[in-house]
Amino acid sequence: MNAMRINLFSPEYQEDPYYFYQVMHRHQPLFFHEPTGSYVLSRHEDIVKAFKDPAFSSRNYAWQMEPLHGKTIIQMDGREHSASRNVVVPAFRGKELMENTLPVMRSYAAALLSGFNGREVVELRDEFTNIFPIKVIVGLLGLPEEDLLLFHRWYNILQRQFTNLSNDDAVLQEALTARDEFRAYLDAVLAERMAKPGHDLLSVLCTAEVDGVRMDSTQIKGFCGLLLQAGAETTDKALANMVRNLLLHPDQFERLRKDRSLLDRAIIESLRFSPPTHMLLRVTNEKVQVSGGEIPAEATVVCLIGAANRDGKVFDRPDEFNIFREELDPRTAFTGASNIATFGFGRHYCVGVQLAKMEMQVAMEYLMDYMEEMSFAEPEIPKEIGVFTRYPESLRIRFKPRT
Ligand code: HEM
Repeated sequence: MNAMRINLFSPEYQEDPYYFYQVMHRHQPLFFHEPTGSYVLSRHEDIVKAFKDPAFSSRNYAWQMEPLHGKTIIQMDGREHSASRNVVVPAFRGKELMENTLPVMRSYAAALLSGFNGREVVELRDEFTNIFPIKVIVGLLGLPEEDLLLFHRWYNILQRQFTNLSNDDAVLQEALTARDEFRAYLDAVLAERMAKPGHDLLSVLCTAEVDGVRMDSTQIKGFCGLLLQAGAETTDKALANMVRNLLLHPDQFERLRKDRSLLDRAIIESLRFSPPTHMLLRVTNEKVQVSGGEIPAEATVVCLIGAANRDGKVFDRPDEFNIFREELDPRTAFTGASNIATFGFGRHYCVGVQLAKMEMQVAMEYLMDYMEEMSFAEPEIPKEIGVFTRYPESLRIRFKPRT
């Protein structure tokens, strides 16, 4: 087959990136993408390498995130990264945090469902999936619930810069304004927490030390910004994708409703089949060999984690949604040993993976308990959109509220 010129911005690609993932796996596992000036990787083995091999760095976040949050762990390498990551990891693994968070999460889910007010049609993204993860982060940081709308606005604006591959200046400027508002808001809270720490995550960050030195307020604000971006959007879209997948596969949804022990499998398969983030970037420190050839030093690399999840060498019939597939292992799927690329691999493997899992479990349990006979509200199936992140923009659902 002659090499097809694949353009990640073309309408055909946006319509069905999955078709192109298979073309890439077979015929173009490495190619140069002129519109972004970057090399593109899609095979599972190459994506693992890009995230684990020190020949690749995450310096790409210097333009994607540093203007907004300063230098945070996602952009660090080596010892600097481990020292900073060690500060925050216990806060996300801590049994206490999880035990405290679970009841609060449940109360958020119940409150959102009560807002449905007995209606039989809701816009699930606007009324649930988009709000629930931000509520969780605001709660984790110990901030007042009334400020949720502020966070919601900041997060939507900041996210546009994250996917600003064409470097649109207007997008950057709007994000910088949102960043300044966010920082000013946190300044006031930080002063209080530093003087009188509580048990919330913000207090943990105020008192934690990196190499014997406390994080300064700029670093703490930067980390909070990272959490908002890394933790809210992903979970929102992961949930929306999961509901869409289950409605498209009613037989599997029915099995799950009857046997809730399948919930973790359903979550993992949905995260594999339609991860919220389809591409992450890396920069090469030196020239490096991958399965499709050589990438020069100092090159930007597009890592298609959505494509890695559809690699037939790792997942049998990769384009089928199947919560029973053998390659899924609920014991390792939410750890660094996972074979799914959705949470990354290696040193930057998602810090919030357990929290995300818990959020998806709680959200799905509550939705299934509250909504019977769920279906799409319109005959047209909500379309997945986006190439960087991918999700249904709107998700109108019809159901019978359980009384
Ligand atoms: C379904 C939900 C989520 C998905 C799919 C997801 C995905 C990812 C991925 C792919 C990375 C690696 C990025 C890279 O290597 O460039 C990452 C890192 C990270 N995630 Fe998540 N994430 C999710 C939820 C969360 C949540 C809930 C939090 C916290 C509230 C969080 C916090 C972080 C942080 C702090 C990092 C940076 C870790 C580091 O650089 O060492 N994520 N996430």
